Amino acid sequence: MTEPVIRQVEQADKPEWQSLWAAYNAFYGREGDTALSGEIVETIWLRLLDEAEPVYGLVAELDGKLVGLSHFIFHRNMIQIAETCYMQDLFTTGEARGRGVGRMLMSGIADICRERGVRDIYWHTHESNQPARGLYDRVAKDTKFTVYRKDID
Ligand SMILES: CC(C)(COP(=O)(O)OP(=O)(O)OC[C@H]1O[C@@H](n2cnc3c(N)ncnc32)[C@H](O)[C@@H]1OP(=O)(O)O)[C@@H](O)C(=O)NCCC(=O)NCCS
Repeated sequence: MTEPVIRQVEQADKPEWQSLWAAYNAFYGREGDTALSGEIVETIWLRLLDEAEPVYGLVAELDGKLVGLSHFIFHRNMIQIAETCYMQDLFTTGEARGRGVGRMLMSGIADICRERGVRDIYWHTHESNQPARGLYDRVAKDTKFTVYRKDID
């Protein structure tokens, strides 16, 4: 079996990245009337490619085709001098699942953190997301913190 290559997203990936990003958003119910607007998608894409932005993207390429993505953000942390890494998105295509691609994408983020002197990665998942938790329980610890969110009107 060919091994996937994990690499930073680049300009030529745009059409495939867009379809992975749409599939990931559909997984969270953001599709049809609730799909992200074209303006948001375009802005996110430009940020991913902009070296001045703290936003990064890795993709997994298998046999010349993108089969997974991950987006992550570096930010300040008030209890340490080094930045912290927040993994906002992780997605692999249905056909590629269970073959270690998700784990490899996370490992790719860890490599970038190491190079940057960043010592921790955190992320959220829904408590009912068993496939994701199956992976996360193998590579990290459950902090038991609960996430609250308030919309600002
Ligand atoms: C979560 C997701 C990224 C996992 O990707 P993946 O490529 O299938 O993951 P991997 O193949 O690297 O799996 C790594 C480990 O997780 C475990 N795992 C994977 N799928 C699982 C499942 N359905 N149930 C339980 N454990 C699972 C595997 O057993 C594997 O462990 P092992 O290598 O020790 O056997 C993928 O299922 C996905 O994109 N889901 C939809 C979007 C999503 O939920 N994203 C995460 C949002 S927080």
